[in-house]
Amino acid sequence: MENALQFLKARRSTRAYLDKAVPSEFLEAVLEAGRYAPSGKNVQATHFLVIRNKAVLNQLAQLVREGFHRAGEDRPEGYTFHYNPDVLIITCNRLDNPNGPADCACALENMMLMASSLELGSCWINQLKSLNADPEINGYLFSLGMDPQERVYGALALGYAATEDGLPNHEPGQRKGNPVTIII
Ligand SMILES: Cc1cc2nc3c(=O)[nH]c(=O)nc-3n(C[C@H](O)[C@H](O)[C@H](O)COP(=O)(O)O)c2cc1C
Repeated sequence: MENALQFLKARRSTRAYLDKAVPSEFLEAVLEAGRYAPSGKNVQATHFLVIRNKAVLNQLAQLVREGFHRAGEDRPEGYTFHYNPDVLIITCNRLDNPNGPADCACALENMMLMASSLELGSCWINQLKSLNADPEINGYLFSLGMDPQERVYGALALGYAATEDGLPNHEPGQRKGNPVTIII
């Protein structure tokens, strides 16, 4: 039990990445962890759109800057929502699945924990979900393989952390909320 808790507490977010490729067996393990996440009614409808192409990552960053501009929420110069990771895993789910956002969240947490166990950095990336009604962004995502009946509910940046030793931070974060009420 103590080991499991220590492992869970050691998962932290990484927001700067080395330009270093994640080995394919590590990426496959992270994706398998996501695919083995629970889903409401066990529908297993989460679609993992895996982007490793720099031109596509740059195009997405540009589209997100434009999307925020259209929404009247301009971001600062040079803003890159995904932190330029080696891999961006976008989690989509069916519009008609009421558990789509929760199913994606479970998949994302499983993938973050797997990444942590492999000494890879990862971070939940929310902007494609915030802009998931933007027709320009959706049009581009359809061209990449997202089904027109799907929408994005989250994404994961994944790669080697840009730290001196290339390892992600494992220092447990301070708890300042998350109250627990036990009724006996
Ligand atoms: C629903 C959700 C959305 C998040 N969105 C972002 C995001 O868009 N960008 C980002 O840098 N971090 C994002 N995070 C990461 C949180 O900021 C992070 O988990 C929190 O600050 C605690 O830090 P830790 O992950 O290192 O423990 C998100 C986390 C969750 C659960």
